[in-house]
Amino acid sequence: MAYLKWLLLGCVTLSIVLLMVHETVSRTNTGGILYPQESESRDVRSLDGIWNFRLSPETDPLTGFRERWFQKDLSQTGRTIPMPVPASYNDVTEDKAIRDHVGLVWYDRTFYVPEAWRQSSLVWLRFGSVHYAAQVWVNGHLVMSHEVGHLPFQADITSVVKFGAKNRITVAVDNILLQTSVPQGHVSEVSTDNGTRITQSYTFDFFNYAGIHRPVYLYTTPSIYIDDISVHTGVRGDTGIIKYNITYGGLLRATSQGPACYVDLLDRDGNYVIRDAGSGRLQGELEVPVARLWWPYLMDPEPGYMYTLQVRLTAQQWGIEDIYRLPVGIRTVEWNNTSILINGRAIYLRGFGRHEDSDLRGKGLDYTLIVKDNNLIKWVGANSYRTSHYPYAEEIMDFADREGIIIMNECPSVDTENYSPALLEKHKDSLSQLIRRDKNRPSVIFWSIANEARTQLPDADSYFRAIVEHVKHLDSTRPITMALARGYGEDRTGQYLDVIGFNRYNGWYSNTGRTDTIRNNVIAEAVSWHHKYNKPVMMLEYGADTLAGLHLYPEYVWSEEYQVEIMSKHFEAFDRLRMQGFFVGEMIWNFADFKTAQTITRVGGNKKGIFTRNRQPKASAHHIRRRYWELAGELDNAILPNDLDHYVSKSRH
Ligand SMILES: *[C@@H]1O[C@H](CO)[C@@H](O)[C@H](O)[C@H]1NC(C)=O
Ligand SMILES: *[C@@H]1O[C@H](CO)[C@@H](O)[C@H](O)[C@H]1NC(C)=O
Ligand SMILES: *[C@@H]1O[C@H](CO)[C@@H](O)[C@H](O)[C@H]1NC(C)=O
Ligand SMILES: *[C@@H]1O[C@H](CO)[C@@H](O)[C@H](O)[C@H]1NC(C)=O
Repeated sequence: MAYLKWLLLGCVTLSIVLLMVHETVSRTNTGGILYPQESESRDVRSLDGIWNFRLSPETDPLTGFRERWFQKDLSQTGRTIPMPVPASYNDVTEDKAIRDHVGLVWYDRTFYVPEAWRQSSLVWLRFGSVHYAAQVWVNGHLVMSHEVGHLPFQADITSVVKFGAKNRITVAVDNILLQTSVPQGHVSEVSTDNGTRITQSYTFDFFNYAGIHRPVYLYTTPSIYIDDISVHTGVRGDTGIIKYNITYGGLLRATSQGPACYVDLLDRDGNYVIRDAGSGRLQGELEVPVARLWWPYLMDPEPGYMYTLQVRLTAQQWGIEDIYRLPVGIRTVEWNNTSILINGRAIYLRGFGRHEDSDLRGKGLDYTLIVKDNNLIKWVGANSYRTSHYPYAEEIMDFADREGIIIMNECPSVDTENYSPALLEKHKDSLSQLIRRDKNRPSVIFWSIANEARTQLPDADSYFRAIVEHVKHLDSTRPITMALARGYGEDRTGQYLDVIGFNRYNGWYSNTGRTDTIRNNVIAEAVSWHHKYNKPVMMLEYGADTLAGLHLYPEYVWSEEYQVEIMSKHFEAFDRLRMQGFFVGEMIWNFADFKTAQTITRVGGNKKGIFTRNRQPKASAHHIRRRYWELAGELDNAILPNDLDHYVSKSRH
């Protein structure tokens, strides 16, 4: 009985959030999700900082709704504590009840808006991401509800904002994962020394951090505004092609003409390349003479070349003009049964799986960390990574665009099982939201539709066929992949993918300690995947947990020496596979150590990083750095840094 009660309570909490999603859908923006940007016609203000925070009582999660906490200052409902935004709330305090809380938490803060915003402006409120589900009130009015973490959402809040008075924003955040959420999880009861409590479990191997994870912005647009921009690029000889499609929002009077749209193209230095194009139309095609192409890092001396598409929307009879500047990289992506090509050149991926994860902040956006990670990626000589196991912050993706890092862009579906129509809809929705956000990014070369789904189950066939059809319908210009972990013999989904990615822990989860089994097993498996599906194949995860500073020789599990040896055995396999013509990439698991749920198989989290959680290199980072740069030299003619090997003797130099 008690079990059922608790389970239901968990479901009720989430279903309230879900109910609200449907009720508020008309007010929550369903159009574009362009990143907030200042321009002559737009103002942006950050709401980041210290917010007020409190937990819902674990034994009565619905108190806040019943007592309508959103109608007063949160501090008037009970004791609040300061909480940084953006950040996960879990690791900020000394309180286990906060770190391990299951259910709802509440945030609030106040703000003023400038009087100048009154003039014909719309006021928007945008969250970069809140995990897992959120409801947002402004001055007591519910303005939006959103489900699925790691993705932005926004609403026009003009009608509820007060001028000349204090405004209050209240956010309820729910971290409960169910069989129909993405990713999946479940809640159950646990009998404690002080009564029954609920506890959450999940199969994925990273901590279910929660909170307001990414920046919160207020911004304005004119009443008729650029709602979305889509670009597709191509190359004809040395001419770059940019096809664009602009949509606008806002109410025009029935009698008035639609707005006119003009576009300009500026180069990286801000010089006009094309001016006043488009003849007022919302769709058009630009021809860029002697175009500078977007190239991946180390494939060109100037990788990540970005133009700026300056879009001007005018509704002249109302005296309105809206301006938005979209960064655009010109490049092509093609693929066949053995290769992936960017700008007609075959690519070989050398990268890693990653996490948004760090001490104290959890999954909270941190600019220092973003820049440091980006520096390390380039230092190692990698050219790519997978956004395992969810979409990364737009601020991180901006770096990938500008630095030329190839992104395998993954939605938050991890260890998918218990397939159902409700799950399918949610999974599709997560991909719709992801593609809406990232469709224009040149760095995004692949869509990854899931990680380690249970693809041997009979239902996986129709489920993933539907997912792939959905993605192809939204974007047919990029190949689709998935990180497969079931055996090729039992897999039912590879037939729908464009590129096969597989995860396998030879010498770790299987044949622990036997590094002499790795090379042939990796080769045999990659060949078998290719034979089964006749598609390009890449290895998306391999590795070993390694405690930084633990040295054991001969190589022994958990030591730095063992991680290095495991890698070398894989490198031997990869080099033999590369000669067979269908093997397109290697990604080690993981870039850095990261936190997981509490388990007996993890010592303070997952330690498979080549960097520690503080971003210091293990021996493996130096080791992989030598390989990735050697590959860049061999395949891309990159000039190698001169500190790859320390001086030993004259004969080596
Ligand atoms: C036991 O749980 C109740 C709520 O059910 C709470 O009020 C009380 O503080 C808890 N006591 C301890 C010692 O944790
Ligand atoms: C432009 O985008 C809109 C909204 O996504 C779509 O309905 C329309 O078909 C697109 N037009 C073209 C020419 O692609
Ligand atoms: C795929 O493309 C590569 C690179 O252009 C080419 O060498 C190869 O022959 C192509 N394979 C097939 C099966 O068309
Ligand atoms: C590519 O693979 C598909 C599916 O196996 C096959 O139908 C097609 O003939 C292959 N193309 C080439 C050029 O080998």
